[in-house]
Amino acid sequence: MADDISILRKFVSPEIIFGIGARHSVANYAKNFGARRVLIVSDPGVKAAGWLEEIQDHLTEENIDWVSFIGVSPNPRTEEVMKGAEVYLANDCNVIVAIGGGSPMDCAKGIGIVATNKGSILDYNGVDTIGSPIPPLVFIPTTAGSSADVSQFAIISDPIERVKFSIISKTIVPDVALIDPETASSMDSFLTACTGIDALVHAIEAFVSTGAGPLTDMHALDAIRLINENLPALLMTPDDLHLREQIMLGSMKAGLAFSNAILGAVHAMSHSLGGYLDLPHGLCNAMLLEHVIAYNYPNAKDRFKIIAETMNVDTRGLTSEQIKQRLMQQVILLKQQVGINQTLTVNGVHRTDIPILSDHALVDPCLLTNPRPSNKRDLATVYEEAL
Ligand SMILES: [Fe+2]
Repeated sequence: MADDISILRKFVSPEIIFGIGARHSVANYAKNFGARRVLIVSDPGVKAAGWLEEIQDHLTEENIDWVSFIGVSPNPRTEEVMKGAEVYLANDCNVIVAIGGGSPMDCAKGIGIVATNKGSILDYNGVDTIGSPIPPLVFIPTTAGSSADVSQFAIISDPIERVKFSIISKTIVPDVALIDPETASSMDSFLTACTGIDALVHAIEAFVSTGAGPLTDMHALDAIRLINENLPALLMTPDDLHLREQIMLGSMKAGLAFSNAILGAVHAMSHSLGGYLDLPHGLCNAMLLEHVIAYNYPNAKDRFKIIAETMNVDTRGLTSEQIKQRLMQQVILLKQQVGINQTLTVNGVHRTDIPILSDHALVDPCLLTNPRPSNKRDLATVYEEAL
C-alpha cells in the first residue's frame, strides 16, 4: 500500500446519480447516448420484484425501443454472455441498460465486450485485454454489494473448467450508475447480509492493497465505517430506507475504492470457491475473511490497526497481536449479527478440494495486489483454517 502522495495514481468512476428515485432518469440517459434500441439485461428475480417493468415503461414513454435479456444465473456464465451478445446484435441495439445485482451487471459488461470486440468472452480474461470501446452502459444496482455499477471488474463463470475469471479494464467502467436505495429494498435478509459483507471485504482489501493510495483510502475507510455501523441494524429493520441508503452508500464507496486499488486474497480465493462449487460470492468472502486478515496481518499491521479503529475497536494500550485478535473478533461478531457465520465444511468443501482451489486462486489477478506475497502452500493453509 502506498502512503506516498508522490506516486502516480489514477481514479476512474462512472457518472453517478445517487439517491431515492435515481432509477427514474434511465430514459434521459439512454436518450443522451442516442439510443436507437436498448438491450436491457436483468434476471428473473429482478423481474419478479417489478423493477424491470418499470425501466421498460420509462423507455417506452420516451419512445425508445428496447429488448430484454433476462437469461442470467446467480453466477453469470460464459454461454449467457454469448447468448446476450447474440440478442444485442440481432436486434441492432446501441445502448445497454442493466438492472439487477452483480450477476446481470457483470453479464451486461461481457455482452458489451463481445458485441463490439467479437470472439468469445473467454478471450478477454485478465487485465486490459479489450481492444475496442464497448456500447454505452447505464447500470442500476438492486443490491448493495457487488458495485459492478461503478467498477472496472466483470467476473464470469466458466462452467466447463469450473472457474470464475476476472476481466479488469477501464473500458468496462459503466458510463452512468443510477444508484437508488429503493431498489435494494427487494433483497431478502440473506442477500442483504451476503452483499453487505461483500462490500465490507471490498473496502478492507482495497485499504490494505498494494495499489491503495490517497484517492482510494478515504472511500475505503468511509465504507468500512458505514457498513460496520449500519448492517446489523438493517438486518433488524429491513424496511428502514435510511439504513438501506447508508449501506448503498457504503457499497458505492467500497466499489470506488476497490475498482481503483484492486483487491486481494479474499477475492482470489473466493472466486476460486465460487467457480468450483457455485456458491454465493458474498458467502464465500464471509467464510474466508478473518482467516485472510490473520494471514495478511504481519504485512500490513499499521493499516489493519486503522481498520480496527474504524470498526470501533479500542486499540489503546493493546499490542499488535491483541489488535489482530480484536479485529478478527469484531469481524466474527459482525458476521454473527447478520447471520452468516458458516464454514467451508458446512458448504461442502472437503480437504481434498483444497489443492485445486489453491491452484485457481493462485492465478486470479486479485492476488497481485495482496499485501502478502503468496504461494500455493500459503493459500492452501488459509483454506484449511477456514474449513
Ligand atoms: Fe466482491
